[in-house]
Amino acid sequence: MGATADGMTTEIHHPNWEMYNDSIYNTGNHPEVGCLDCHMASREYNDTTHEIAGHTFDYEPELLFSLESSGECYDCHDEEFAEVIETRQDLIAQRIEELKSVQNNASVALENLNGTASYETKLEDYNNAVFYMHFVEEDGCLGIHNMEKANEYLDKSEKLFNSVTETEEPVEQPGFEAIVAVFGLMFMFWIAKKRD
Ligand code: HEC
Ligand code: HEC
Repeated sequence: MGATADGMTTEIHHPNWEMYNDSIYNTGNHPEVGCLDCHMASREYNDTTHEIAGHTFDYEPELLFSLESSGECYDCHDEEFAEVIETRQDLIAQRIEELKSVQNNASVALENLNGTASYETKLEDYNNAVFYMHFVEEDGCLGIHNMEKANEYLDKSEKLFNSVTETEEPVEQPGFEAIVAVFGLMFMFWIAKKRD
């Protein structure tokens, strides 16, 4: 994939791996936890169907952090950790929510910059801000794949939106018109002289 903020792209699909990569779960800061460890918390092997009972891609925190789980999370976590995670997800959800109003202000500001010299750069900033916000939104886990990256991307997004909102509209420069007028006048004198 390797989709990055390029000033134009605002959409990103299935950024789960990119979000997860470099997280505590695969950098050695936490016992290694892969996608399936969280998403297919299995209760037991089923002798009849020869399947693991949890065979969907669901995330079931109560099961995952229980003693029953085949994962070894219970060595360090317990059922209550499911609630801790939920609280952390709420914080990310709230940040995304707040970012939406920051985005609204930025989009109004951007419209006002239309036609000015700063428009192109600020449009890129705006697009990148949307990209980072979408990245976290699209990932769909509200930070759990990688808390650090989720917060970092939301920070980036907020900063970029604000850079659009805080851009001053350039004051009208009378200088240029004055110069045009003077040259126009000189030209007319020159024509008038030639006709003589
Ligand atoms: C530490 C546990 C954990 C790991 C590891 C993990 N996930 Fe997740 N994932 C979650 C949680 C929690 C959610 C949010 C689900 C919820 O709250 O119901 C989620 C959500 C998702 C979703 C979105 C589902 C939706 O409804 O939008 C996808 C897709 C996904 N994960 C894929 C992956 C992939 C691919 C990997 C490995 C690269 C991975 N996950 C690793 C915990 C994990
Ligand atoms: C050797 C101990 C240990 C084991 C085993 C372990 N964890 Fe953790 N885990 C930790 C510690 C320590 C933290 C950091 C404490 C915190 O975030 O509150 C943590 C944090 C987490 C977080 C929160 C990350 C965040 O950024 O908020 C999740 C989710 C998690 N672990 C999932 C799992 C899962 C799923 C398993 C089993 C597959 C597991 N852990 C196994 C020690 C462990």
